[in-house]
This record gives sequence, C-alpha cells and structure tokens, in this order.
Amino acid sequence: MLDALHSLEQSALAELAAAGNPDALEKWRIAFIGANGQLKNAMAGLKDVPKDLKPAVGKRLNEVKSALESAYETRKSALASHAPSGPTVDLTEPGLPVGLGRRHVLSRTIDEIVDVFGRMGFAVADGPELEDEHHNFNALNIPAGHPARDPRDNFYLRGAWAERLLLRTQTSTVQIRAMEAQKPPLKVVATGRVYRPDAHDATHYSMFHQIEGLCIDKGISMVDLKTALLQFARAYFGPDAEVRLRPSFFPFTEPSAEFDMKMRIRGNLQWVELGGCGMVDPNVLEAVGIDPEVWTGYAFGLGIERIAMRRYGIADIRWLFENDARFLRQF
Ligand code: DAH
Repeated sequence: MLDALHSLEQSALAELAAAGNPDALEKWRIAFIGANGQLKNAMAGLKDVPKDLKPAVGKRLNEVKSALESAYETRKSALASHAPSGPTVDLTEPGLPVGLGRRHVLSRTIDEIVDVFGRMGFAVADGPELEDEHHNFNALNIPAGHPARDPRDNFYLRGAWAERLLLRTQTSTVQIRAMEAQKPPLKVVATGRVYRPDAHDATHYSMFHQIEGLCIDKGISMVDLKTALLQFARAYFGPDAEVRLRPSFFPFTEPSAEFDMKMRIRGNLQWVELGGCGMVDPNVLEAVGIDPEVWTGYAFGLGIERIAMRRYGIADIRWLFENDARFLRQF
C-alpha cells in the first residue's frame, strides 16, 4: 500500500508538471484529487489495510493528499501568471466607426458665396492678413490721425519695420492690391480673415471673415452696385430675396451705403444688415493711378459669419470657433 501510494504521488506530480494549460490542470485535478479521483480511491482502500499498518498508511495518505493539493495550488498560480496579460482581443466585436470629416460651416459658406459671384463674372483676388498701414488705411482714404487708426481698435505689431504693420481690419485692403496689380476693367471678390480687438460675446469676435467685391469699368453706377447685390441675394437666398441700401459713410466710397438683405430665415423673410458698399471714392482710384474721369466703380464688403449665423440659426459666433465637433457636425 505504501508503495502504491508512492507511485501514485510520483505519477501525479509528473503529470501535474506536464499540465500546461488550465484545461489540462482541471483534468488532472479531477483524476487525482477530485471527489472520485485516485487519491479518494486510495483513501477508500484504507479500510482493507491490516489494523497495525493503518496508522502509518493513514499518515502517509494525509501526506500525499496535502503534497498533491499544495502542488496543485502552486501549479495553478504559475499557470495563471503565465496567462496572456493585457486586454484580449475579441475579433467578433464590431469595429470602431471611422469618423468622416466635413468642411467647416464657414468654409462652406465662403465657397458658396464665391461660387455665386463667380457665376456673375467676378474673379477671385487675394491679399495678406498681415498688412501695412498703406493698404489698410492710407490708400483707402483713411489719413493719419483718423480715429479708425486708433491703437485700441487695431492689432498693431511691435517691431522694427520700415512701415508699421497690423492685422488687417477689413478685406477692403484687397481692393487696393487688386487695383495695383491689374489695369481696369476689373471685377473681383476677395474673402478672408480680418481682426479687431473686440471683446468676445455672442455677436463679436476678435477675428472674423469678410467678402469684398470690387468692380471698375467705364460708366459703372450705383445701379450696377444694387443690381449685383440683388442678383447675389436672389441666387444665394432664393428668388424672393430683396436688397435695401441705407445712406452711410465710409472713407473709401462716395456715396456710401449700408446694405440689408431680406433673407428667408426658417420660413420667414427678414431684413438682415450684411455690410457696407458704395461707389469707389475718386481719391482711392487716383492713389492707385486709375483716372477717375475715365473709370468708375463700386465696392462692397459683407460679413460672412453674419450670413452663416442667420442662415443656419446659429445664436453665438463663438460656437463657430470653439471647434466642438458635436456642434460642427450639424452643418
Ligand atoms: N470695410 C468695411 C468694414 O469693414 C465694409 C465696406 C464698406 C467695404 C464699404 C466696402 C465698402 O467695400 O465699399 O466695415
């Protein structure tokens, strides 16, 4: 019996060492130390052992039992620590959705507006956001000492340049650049960012976008200006859109006007102030070497955020620049 116990212990330990995974370990447990395992059988055989040998065999049985049980626990924790660590991959799980990007609502609005003016015969012009005072002021008939040049209303740059530089406050700068670069007749629109040191609130931001238009030709009048704006309004906002001009003042146009458009806003037609316009001031033409006796022209500038906000019912300009994808995804 003692010999049998010895070989049971030896073969159990050998097989335990060979059990390389939790399944094999469980089979081993059932075969050797389970309720119907070999150890239980051996214990059941104790009753047939002659009485005088019983204490020794009983003791030995207990030794083998605890040896096998502790070997089992050791093996079990060894296997567990070799189990693959970290997240396991479930190949049947659905994949993560690929987020599709989209153009920013302002970029789309700019494209749409430029597209409409393109169909009306306007070419696209461009100018820098970092401007000199000549293009942002002087050439636009805004002389030194004019209140519009106040440092509190402009982002001037500190530095040792020949001329003071600033972030442009209006895309009207591109009118000058276009007239410097091309001889009339010319018909251009320019879009881009402009900067003003305004405190941020629902309708103000220190950076926003404008679209500028300029048309110089022989015999251009206020009628052409209003027609161009009306055509734009109809093409962009729908056939029942209207345009209204109100007298105003800008240094670079004479006469000058504010213009409103009647837009359909969620079903209702409403007047919305969109920008300024006028006939290009003869001083402006002369400064770029265009003879105002021969050529006349109109110009206009409108705010792009205002159009997009009205069109899409966006109540706060700051939302356009916070880059919250949940907001931007809606457009
Ligand atoms: N630059 C003006 C502004 O930012 C808007 C403007 C008014 C543009 C009249 C024009 C114009 O071209 O003719 O307030």
